[in-house]
Amino acid sequence: MVQVRRNNLRPCIRLLLLPLLAVTAVSAGASPVTSGDLYALSKLKSSLLSRSARNSTSLADWDVATPPPPSSSPAASHHYCNFSGVTCDASGNRVVAINLTPASLSTAACSQPSLTVAACSLSGPIPASLASMPLLRHLNLSTNNISGFFPSGPEPYFPSAEVIDVYNNSLTGPLPALGRSRTRLRHQDLGGNYFSGGIPEEYGDLKQLEVLGLGLNSLSGRVPPSLSRLKRLREMHLEYNSFDGEALVLLAMLEILQAWENNLTGELPANLGKNGRLLTLDVTDNRLTGAIPPSLCAGRRLQFLFLMRNKLSGPIPEDLGNCKTLTKVRLNSNLLNGSIPAGLLDLPMNNMLDLSDNLLSGELPEMIPSAGLVFLSVASNRLSGPVPPEIGHLKKLSLLNFSANALTAGVPGELSHCESLTGGHIVRPREQPGATHHA
Ligand SMILES: *[C@@H]1O[C@H](CO)[C@@H](O)[C@H](O)[C@H]1NC(C)=O
Ligand SMILES: *[C@@H]1O[C@H](CO)[C@@H](O)[C@H](O)[C@H]1NC(C)=O
Ligand SMILES: *[C@@H]1O[C@H](CO)[C@@H](O)[C@H](O)[C@H]1NC(C)=O
Ligand SMILES: *[C@@H]1O[C@H](CO)[C@@H](O)[C@H](O)[C@H]1NC(C)=O
Ligand SMILES: *[C@@H]1O[C@H](CO)[C@@H](O)[C@H](O)[C@H]1NC(C)=O
Ligand SMILES: *[C@@H]1O[C@H](CO)[C@@H](O)[C@H](O)[C@H]1NC(C)=O
Ligand SMILES: *[C@@H]1O[C@H](CO)[C@@H](O)[C@H](O)[C@H]1NC(C)=O
Ligand SMILES: *[C@@H]1O[C@H](CO)[C@@H](O)[C@H](O)[C@H]1NC(C)=O
Repeated sequence: MVQVRRNNLRPCIRLLLLPLLAVTAVSAGASPVTSGDLYALSKLKSSLLSRSARNSTSLADWDVATPPPPSSSPAASHHYCNFSGVTCDASGNRVVAINLTPASLSTAACSQPSLTVAACSLSGPIPASLASMPLLRHLNLSTNNISGFFPSGPEPYFPSAEVIDVYNNSLTGPLPALGRSRTRLRHQDLGGNYFSGGIPEEYGDLKQLEVLGLGLNSLSGRVPPSLSRLKRLREMHLEYNSFDGEALVLLAMLEILQAWENNLTGELPANLGKNGRLLTLDVTDNRLTGAIPPSLCAGRRLQFLFLMRNKLSGPIPEDLGNCKTLTKVRLNSNLLNGSIPAGLLDLPMNNMLDLSDNLLSGELPEMIPSAGLVFLSVASNRLSGPVPPEIGHLKKLSLLNFSANALTAGVPGELSHCESLTGGHIVRPREQPGATHHA
């Protein structure tokens, strides 16, 4: 997993705590609360800077040792409102945003990729004090090396959070209990960490949730059916975990479902796509059975359809042959049968069509020459009849694989004039699997 998502040099720290703007009903000069903000900042500073960075000039102007004056006039702002990257509300009392960029953490090292790794990485745990900052609406700690458990504080716990993004860190332990009382959360990205265990049932109570990112973790168990209550959910990322069971819930607003590399079983919901919103469906490498839902492209928006390496059976829905928005289609390595729908070979935007390793039969559909396809494989099926000569006009084609079928005619001669095939492969109908031929 580390290789999957940590293959680059660590860039400089990118820490953004950006609550939204509306600040209401904050009593001016409430020093117990405001010193709480200072405390949170001091915890943030000490948690953010690893030992080596602490000695640097990073956050040098964050004088967290000086307490706010005991009774501040409503007009005076607190000194911490002047810390670099810190924004207070109009009355100068409450922190509403913290935006730490490489500049505010400037060390000479930050501009040198090989040194920034140590000097700028945000490490250590998420300060528990963040969880009780009353106005914090937007927490973005993505792409750092934060470790430890997600803070699990007493209520109120992230009382105002609308966005929590800790994507691509090193957090461990169970998923945070952002459940019942978290009615404002609309974007929660916990992906790319080492969270383990299951999805809390209470996530189904996050009524405002639009984006749920749990991919690239070590999560397991069933995806709770309670998630079907997420009426606003547009994006669900479950990929690269060990979820099993009949997991896929139907969501009214769903646009993007990423669930590749799990152990999901059962069928795709028959109504998937009927909402007219689907853009991306990727359930590659699961153990799904049953048919491909017929209305995936009902909204005429579907672009990416990756169903490969499952146990899906039955026909390819005819409607996909009329889904002009498709740009990549991989249905390979399933048990699909029937014939290839008319139109599927010449969708105007499509650059990849992989139908290989199925039980498809009949003849290849007639096709009009389409400029787009770069990759076309129908290998290892039960297709018969001639190869349509129009394939010779596919100008961008770089891989064409017809092997292991009962197709009769060879690849049309026109293909040998097709420049983009130079260096690509044509696997002719009669050749053995694996045998390639450079045009
Ligand atoms: C994850 O974070 C590392 C640095 O910590 C970065 O190099 C990498 O590009 C990030 N990966 C993604 C997918 O954002
Ligand atoms: C911290 O800075 C001081 C003075 O600039 C230096 O003597 C010391 O070696 C530094 N320590 C580390 C751990 O870099
Ligand atoms: C913030 O900085 C400005 C300009 O540097 C200064 O005039 C002001 O007194 C500072 N405010 C506080 C509360 O320290
Ligand atoms: C968090 O910050 C990263 C880096 O700036 C950005 O790509 C990402 O979109 C932000 N997340 C949210 C939810 O705004
Ligand atoms: C991330 O932090 C862990 C300890 O929490 C450490 O072992 C690892 O080396 C760090 N990775 C990077 C890229 O800094
Ligand atoms: C799926 O389950 C099998 C056995 O039940 C296990 O060996 C495999 O590691 C699991 N794969 C994932 C991605 O969880
Ligand atoms: C496809 O397979 C199903 C069984 O999975 C079978 O009932 C059906 O007749 C097959 N269709 C074709 C065209 O082979
Ligand atoms: C063509 O398809 C066959 C059968 O699926 C496969 O073994 C072979 O590797 C493919 N060739 C190329 C160049 O992808």
